Amino acid sequence: MEFIGTINESELINGTSKLISINGKDIALFKIDNKITALGNSCLHKGGPLSKGKIGKKYDGYYVTCPWHGWEYNVSNGKAPPGYDEQQTVYDVKIKNGKILVSNQPIVFSANKKYDGSLKDLIKLQYETTPDSLNILGISTTNMNQNLERDSTSEMSLNKALSYAKQKYNASTVLLKLRDLEFRNCEGYYSINEQACTWPCSISEMDENDGMNEVYRKMILWADIVLISTPIRWGNASSLYFKMIERLNCVQNQTTLHDRVLVKNKVASFIITGGQDNIQHVAGNMMVFFTELGFSLPPFAFMGWSRGWNAEDMENNVLQFSKSRYVNRSVRDLVDNGIKLLRQVKGDPCKTVSSPQPKIMEAPSKLKTD
Ligand code: FES
Repeated sequence: MEFIGTINESELINGTSKLISINGKDIALFKIDNKITALGNSCLHKGGPLSKGKIGKKYDGYYVTCPWHGWEYNVSNGKAPPGYDEQQTVYDVKIKNGKILVSNQPIVFSANKKYDGSLKDLIKLQYETTPDSLNILGISTTNMNQNLERDSTSEMSLNKALSYAKQKYNASTVLLKLRDLEFRNCEGYYSINEQACTWPCSISEMDENDGMNEVYRKMILWADIVLISTPIRWGNASSLYFKMIERLNCVQNQTTLHDRVLVKNKVASFIITGGQDNIQHVAGNMMVFFTELGFSLPPFAFMGWSRGWNAEDMENNVLQFSKSRYVNRSVRDLVDNGIKLLRQVKGDPCKTVSSPQPKIMEAPSKLKTD
């Protein structure tokens, strides 16, 4: 085995790490208690840079924590913490005349356990839609005390729409209430590095019971049509709606990073209700987001309910809503239009979709300049 000269020993401060490269391979050097070790730099999870990780004493030794999602490796032998089987690549190190020499071949090769968890259907994108399916997913984003349920105009409209779709079109329907799904907020891995925002979401991988996994499954794999209902809260969609769409960054990000559109031949429509106003603003926001994911929008893609700026008498809102002929008619129109568009889409489905959105290879730092 050959040893290659790298940096001077004095350049690596005790308790820190440094990135070097040997024959095009990135290697992280660590110096702990004045002993130098060398591990493969690329994390076995999604390639995060271990040389930028925090080093600390834990378990049975010193570990480096990957800055992307927190996988840990013992810096002296590359092993994952006790109880885990992953093994990072380890290189041999010698010191000669104050220089750090690193073997050109690993002395321990990496081993990564093949993922065998419950997210396989999402990883492999096992779509459940067929040319004939008519699967309609309703997502209610209103929040309420689960022990003290109240009448919600947005959720009642959604229920009306789903019942109509079932009765008239024999559609398969599923209603997800976000308030019943316990899910974590987006933790902004994208802000560390665009590649750290993964599909399925990194949080889903960390916690297979996270409630968003049900949304991913139903929205991306199962649904032909997605109907989303929201109340208006301070002029915007509900906080649960925003909590959900932040976690859908991992869907949109696939287009940006891998030119891979996960949502094809699917239709989205919206139900927006509020005691006062701002329906068009909320609709505009929702429509933009869902076309960014790849959904098609039918003509008149939303219905709204609002009694106007000075309608502070909320105790009359549900009563007026229940009596409204407009509501009953407009949710039916919403469903009819969505199904018409779906039929057109399914008549000539696209296998690939090109997205005019920015791609990572077009980012300023990736562009070659002459
Ligand atoms: S923990 Fe290292 S890339 Fe995810």
